[in-house]
Amino acid sequence: MMTRRQVSAGLSAGGALAAAPAIAASQAAKSRALPEPRQQGGMPLMSALKLRRSARAYSDRPLSDQTLSDLLWAAFGVNRPSGDRTAPYWRHVMVIDVYAVMADGVWVYEPKSHALSPYLKDDVRALTGLQDFVATAPLNLVYVAHGERMTDVSPEERRLYASVDAGFIGQNVYLFCASEGLGSVFRGAVDYQKLAKALHLPGQQFVTFAQTVGYPSA
Ligand SMILES: Cc1cc2nc3c(=O)[nH]c(=O)nc-3n(C[C@H](O)[C@H](O)[C@H](O)COP(=O)(O)O)c2cc1C
Repeated sequence: MMTRRQVSAGLSAGGALAAAPAIAASQAAKSRALPEPRQQGGMPLMSALKLRRSARAYSDRPLSDQTLSDLLWAAFGVNRPSGDRTAPYWRHVMVIDVYAVMADGVWVYEPKSHALSPYLKDDVRALTGLQDFVATAPLNLVYVAHGERMTDVSPEERRLYASVDAGFIGQNVYLFCASEGLGSVFRGAVDYQKLAKALHLPGQQFVTFAQTVGYPSA
């Protein structure tokens, strides 16, 4: 039997692509390298907490590669030699993959290599939520859970623990955004079936929540 650590190591974010080889292979695209994330600086924590809030109006200004890199690292990057992350996660099993849904397609964040793997070429931002701004904001993060990795628990518990994992990532994103002058909103108003279909999620994978990120327009 594999230990929790072995399960997590063997089934990291790359598992998302393994689960949908036809999609990844048909794209025949390479991973997108991200600049080294800046792991120092930013706003003092208490100041970021003071500014944390949800935003629902975004400009279409894109995020720079450096900002995207810093954001993804803050969200769920590797912060220790053990491979563990900036957010805690259930039973040491890596359940959540962070999908970055942008104008140029859908990418899966690979924390170990700190890169983005191409997943879909289509712009499916409009399908990530039921609010208009999701279609034009530069980035919608979608927190996808691998239900099949959560053994010995009921479907209700799967959803519960995966949602908590996503919530921690979401708060990291909120605080990073507050520190960087970005807007964000964590979202459950999603057509889950439509989004799972658009993302070609296999059987036991499911969307927990989505989160928009961009520069506020108002
Ligand atoms: C689980 C959860 C789901 C949420 N879903 C949505 C949503 O679908 N759309 C939205 O605009 N805000 C959503 N929010 C954001 C809340 O509405 C927001 O955090 C709350 O009103 C407090 O505002 P604040 O974040 O500015 O402090 C959600 C927040 C949480 C924690």
